[in-house]
Amino acid sequence: MYMVRIAGVLDDWGSWPIDGAEERTGESWVYFSSQLVAREFAKAHGSKVERARWEVNLDYQREWTAKAVGRHWWIAPEWDQSAAPDGRIRLGMKMGLVFGAGDHDTTCGCLEMMERLDFSKKNIFDLGTGTGILSEAAIRLGAATAVACDLEWDAALMAHKRGVAAYQGPSFALPDAAFDVMLVNVPGYVHLDLSPEYGRLLKPGGDLLLSGYYEWQGERIEAALPQFRKIDQILRGDGWVASIFSHATATASSD
Ligand SMILES: C[S@@+](CC[C@H](N)C(=O)[O-])C[C@H]1O[C@@H](n2cnc3c(N)ncnc32)[C@H](O)[C@@H]1O
Repeated sequence: MYMVRIAGVLDDWGSWPIDGAEERTGESWVYFSSQLVAREFAKAHGSKVERARWEVNLDYQREWTAKAVGRHWWIAPEWDQSAAPDGRIRLGMKMGLVFGAGDHDTTCGCLEMMERLDFSKKNIFDLGTGTGILSEAAIRLGAATAVACDLEWDAALMAHKRGVAAYQGPSFALPDAAFDVMLVNVPGYVHLDLSPEYGRLLKPGGDLLLSGYYEWQGERIEAALPQFRKIDQILRGDGWVASIFSHATATASSD
C-alpha cells in the first residue's frame, strides 16, 4: 500500500482509483494499492509517494471476516481456520501491502464471473495478479496451468507464497496465442493501454475476464477491444464492472 499526502481535504476523487483516504490536520492521506498510480497522483498534486504505515493496514485488516462469494467461494482471512460451508471452496485472504486480499468488489466480481467460464484443462494468464487469488481460483476450477504477473515485486512474491507461478514484470515477453483464458483486474486506463496484449496473448476463441473499471468507463474499454465480443457482465458495489469477452475466431477468407 502506498500513501500520498496532499494539502487540505480531498473532496474530488475524479477518476483516480483511490483505495482510501484519511483526513488529518490540514492535510489528507490518500492510499493506493498501485505504486504507479500513486506516483501519477503525487505528480499531479505536487507531492511524493510514501509507503503506507503497517498500523493503518492492520486497522482495516482486523475488520476482515469470512464471507461467501458467488455460488462456489468462501473467502476467509488467514487467521480464521473455520471450515468452509458445504459445497464452497475456501480461498485464503492474504494480509499485507498487496491489493487483492479477496474482499474488494472487483475481486469478488471476478470470482463470481469465473463460475460462468470453463477452466477445465485450460491455460490461464492472470495479468495483475495481486495476491494471486484469481490464479488459485482458476486452478481450483480445474485449470491445467496458471501463469501470473504483476508489476509489483511484493505481489509476485505473495502470489508465489500461495503456490501461484507468478513473476514480477509486464506481459510483453510472453508468446503469442499462449492462453485459453485471461483474467485482468486492473484500473480502467490500464485496460486501454493493455488491450492489444489481450488480442495477442489469447488464442482465437479464448475468454477474457476484465474488471477493475467502472460502468462509465466501459464504453471506451469496449471500443479498444474490436476483436472481442462482450458476452456477459455484472456490476458490484459502486458500479464496478466484471465482464467476459470472447476473442473472435479468425474467419476464412471468401476468395
Ligand atoms: C486491482 S489489483 C487486482 C489484484 C487481483 N488480481 C484481484 O483480482 O484481486 C491490480 C494489480 O495489477 C497490477 N498491475 C497494474 N498494472 C499492471 C500491468 N500493466 N502489468 C502487470 N500488473 C499490473 C497492480 O500492481 C495490482 O497488484
